[in-house]
Amino acid sequence: MVKKDTSNILTVENLSVNYSGIKAVRGVTFSVKKNQKIAIIGANGAGKTTLMKALVGLKEISGGAIYFNGQSIAMTPAFKRVEQGITLVPEGRGIFSRLTVEENLLLGAYLRPNSELKEVYESLENQFYLFPRLKERRNQLAGTLSGGEQQMLAIARALMGKPKLLLLDEPSMGLAPILVEQIFKVLEDITSQDISLLLVEQNASLALTITEEAIVLDLGKVVMQGHSKQLLSDKKVQEAYLGI
Ligand SMILES: Nc1ncnc2c1ncn2[C@@H]1O[C@H](COP(=O)(O)OP(=O)(O)OP(=O)(O)O)[C@@H](O)[C@H]1O
Ligand SMILES: [Mg+2]
Repeated sequence: MVKKDTSNILTVENLSVNYSGIKAVRGVTFSVKKNQKIAIIGANGAGKTTLMKALVGLKEISGGAIYFNGQSIAMTPAFKRVEQGITLVPEGRGIFSRLTVEENLLLGAYLRPNSELKEVYESLENQFYLFPRLKERRNQLAGTLSGGEQQMLAIARALMGKPKLLLLDEPSMGLAPILVEQIFKVLEDITSQDISLLLVEQNASLALTITEEAIVLDLGKVVMQGHSKQLLSDKKVQEAYLGI
């Protein structure tokens, strides 16, 4: 196992991912520094979700390398990557609909040792502080939450596991502006919890506003990369992704 620069929490080199013949991700290279927030934007079918799945081990890669804290993880099974601190909140959320909000949140901490029980309950209260809507609904079955509330629950549950790197796939999808605002407020400040963020978003202007750097994917390739602020004011980005 090759040791890479450990100031990066994640290093992706020349990564390719195929689906029987379709090249969904083609030679993607980028890195995430500790406590950095990076946005990945791109049109439908650009390969964003595929890239996220490959990073967490839910889709095998066809070429290239992935390093987490300097260690190669390309062959590490998905459950081990979660143990190491990489958590994905997928498109479509995947909460347990027949459990309550509180039960879902506590399940998010399943990897934390029993000796941390007190801290787990402190984390629970912290989620209720970050997402007051969840507190009001702590005993409600998760399946009866609104779409936006379920998205909040999925993010809060991920935070219960104290990840080092959080991957979010379209957290704003289908949500009313007020809920999007609440969720993004939490994300903007996520590094205060010592969490690095990789954020896939269709809402490019919002994603570029709360991140430091961004990557633009097109047909599986990185076509632009740079400071989020610069991309926000870039004419090509504005026309293609910001609807300006
Ligand atoms: N399971 C699969 N089998 C075959 N092809 C797939 C599969 N999943 C995705 N693809 C293809 O891979 C390409 C990238 O898809 P992906 O879901 O990664 O895009 P995306 O950028 O997340 O798009 P969106 O913004 O619509 O979510 C698409 O052409 C898609 O049709
Ligand atoms: Mg997608």
